[in-house]
Amino acid sequence: MIDKTLIKKRFSKSLSTYEDNAIIQKIMADKLIELINDREYKSVLEIGCSTGILTRKIKEKINYNKYSAIDIVGEACKYVLQIINDAEFTEEDIETAEINENYDLIISNACMQWCNDFEKTMQKLISRLNYGGVLAVSVFAKENMKEIKSFFNLPQSQHPTISGAKVYEQEPIKIYFESPISVLNHIKLTGVNAIKPYKFTKTKLKEFEEYYKTNYSENGKVYLTYAPKYIIYVKPERY
Ligand SMILES: C[S@@+](CC[C@H](N)C(=O)[O-])C[C@H]1O[C@@H](n2cnc3c(N)ncnc32)[C@H](O)[C@@H]1O
Repeated sequence: MIDKTLIKKRFSKSLSTYEDNAIIQKIMADKLIELINDREYKSVLEIGCSTGILTRKIKEKINYNKYSAIDIVGEACKYVLQIINDAEFTEEDIETAEINENYDLIISNACMQWCNDFEKTMQKLISRLNYGGVLAVSVFAKENMKEIKSFFNLPQSQHPTISGAKVYEQEPIKIYFESPISVLNHIKLTGVNAIKPYKFTKTKLKEFEEYYKTNYSENGKVYLTYAPKYIIYVKPERY
């Protein structure tokens, strides 16, 4: 089970450092927009808006009349309002949130992997699409952060297929760092260490550094793999 209190705490703490470290999330936001900006959307609901990396890109590339955003972290509100001053913001967990309106576009970048029941949440969002509307979600594929998962013995990311949706898996992207400690810092500064609380002992940290250097070094640096995945569902038009 994903601990939502921990998610809230970690993301709230990392808001001020998130943008400088969210290299992959910026790439994902661009790709997500590229996959859906071939049509018009009057109403948009963004899930997990955080500091507004995706919000800014939507404002630039998509025409809309009404913008709503949800984040489990309340402080995200001020970031969204700085970008879209008439946006409607709700502080809520998307899994338990009651959505009372329908939208032309429901979109989420690098957030829905924090759902305990991904499929149920996706179906809830699909039920809130207008006919012809689009649900566009980016998450992570199996290979994502395989270096960290193998050391901590964490499960690989797996998302059930959503019937009728198209899935695009991007080539995994390696990001290079000076040391295993800078990998850990990078993860912390983006808040994505939100799954499990973990305290390193000195011995464990040394073990981690050695393991990482031995297995994931290239040209004097160490790397971390990200594997983005995009799920696009278009609700059929009603005839
Ligand atoms: C990695 S950040 C991605 C932020 C943003 N979408 C971007 O493109 O940079 C994940 C965001 O999702 C939010 N989040 C995580 N789980 C959530 C949930 N169950 N409901 C709503 N927001 C959630 C976090 O608070 C955080 O702001």
